[in-house]
Amino acid sequence: MISFREVTKIFPGGQRAVDDLSMDIYRGRITVFVGPSGCGKTTSLRMINRMIDPSSGTITVDGRDVGAEPAAQLRRSMGYVMQSAGLLPHRTVLDNIATVPRLNGVDRRGARARAGELLETVGLDPELARRYPAQLSGGQQQRVGVARALAADPPVLLMDEPFSAVDPVVRDELQEELLRLQRELAKTIVFVTHDIDEATIIGDKVAVFAVGGRLAQFATPEEILRAPANDFVASFVGRDRGFRHLSFTEPSGLTIHPVDPTVLSAATEDVAPGWRLVVDDDGRPAGWLGPDQRPAGDRFTAADLIPGGSLYRQGHSLRAALDSALSSPAGIGVAVDEAGIVRGVLRPTEVVEVIERDRAGLQARVASGEPVARG
Ligand SMILES: Nc1ncnc2c1ncn2[C@@H]1O[C@H](COP(=O)(O)OP(=O)(O)O)[C@@H](O)[C@H]1O
Ligand SMILES: [Mg+2]
Repeated sequence: MISFREVTKIFPGGQRAVDDLSMDIYRGRITVFVGPSGCGKTTSLRMINRMIDPSSGTITVDGRDVGAEPAAQLRRSMGYVMQSAGLLPHRTVLDNIATVPRLNGVDRRGARARAGELLETVGLDPELARRYPAQLSGGQQQRVGVARALAADPPVLLMDEPFSAVDPVVRDELQEELLRLQRELAKTIVFVTHDIDEATIIGDKVAVFAVGGRLAQFATPEEILRAPANDFVASFVGRDRGFRHLSFTEPSGLTIHPVDPTVLSAATEDVAPGWRLVVDDDGRPAGWLGPDQRPAGDRFTAADLIPGGSLYRQGHSLRAALDSALSSPAGIGVAVDEAGIVRGVLRPTEVVEVIERDRAGLQARVASGEPVARG
């Protein structure tokens, strides 16, 4: 287990990159650091293998203070993968990977044999062994980077935005490959990304970092989707960021609950405790009346209505469904048909369940080795 205890990093010049970070990263799991740019993810990651030393606080690995370990030895005990694969341009793919076992004292032949095995482990054709990095695609280079990080068989793998520079399709493949690999290898992986989609697909636990290097939430992906700890997490998880993969998902199994919406003159029907959905004469959503809301005048008028959030058009994506549920003032999404007429409401917890089931299904297919078409 990797433990952060009250870790703060202030760079010379006064920039507070990480602020009082305490967390436990479990062995054999994938923990993802996610958050917007500049919120201290890389700094936190690099303090684990002492590429950066904390200003205060301690980090332990299996109870041993990393500050007391020789930095070079520590670094060799942890694989490190960066956004640019960081391969040596003038060495072949095989030699790039073999460099690491060589540094650890394995003889040349043994190192090359190991490198060859690793090429297969990361799903690369052994034919590529003799090529130079520039002769590979971006996705292939990243796989070589992962192979190299695995070469010393380190128990810990640190990955800093390893898939950020490749196109989305390749990125999906690499994510699936990493999940497959992890089933076999069960490393302790700390994975940095700024992409909440990637975080929820890859992570067993997700740490959401906020601006100023503060930990905003540390929980399972399910919990973060279902119950964001605060407005920052909700907005980061929510509408504009992430969930791109949901756009491609057929929303099967989504329950649209029938409602009895109401027109202003007879605004009585509750659809959520206290909330009433109001429609116009054609049945199109007009807005909401809040719990215990009283009319401003002698009866409710259009001016009393609280504007609704985005609408969910039936048959559209899960992302749109989640948007509608999260953006609604009533905490319940409104589903309309193609003509814009209210067909029912969506409960956010149920939308998240469908999302989670999709994710679990994806992971199960990855685990069974079935090819996964996504996006
Ligand atoms: N070597 C450095 N010297 C000064 N400031 C730094 C240094 N490295 C990072 N920072 C600052 O610390 C903050 C966190 O950086 P970083 O950990 O790289 O964030 P992230 O990986 O989340 O984008 C940023 O404001 C960044 O500008
Ligand atoms: Mg970074």
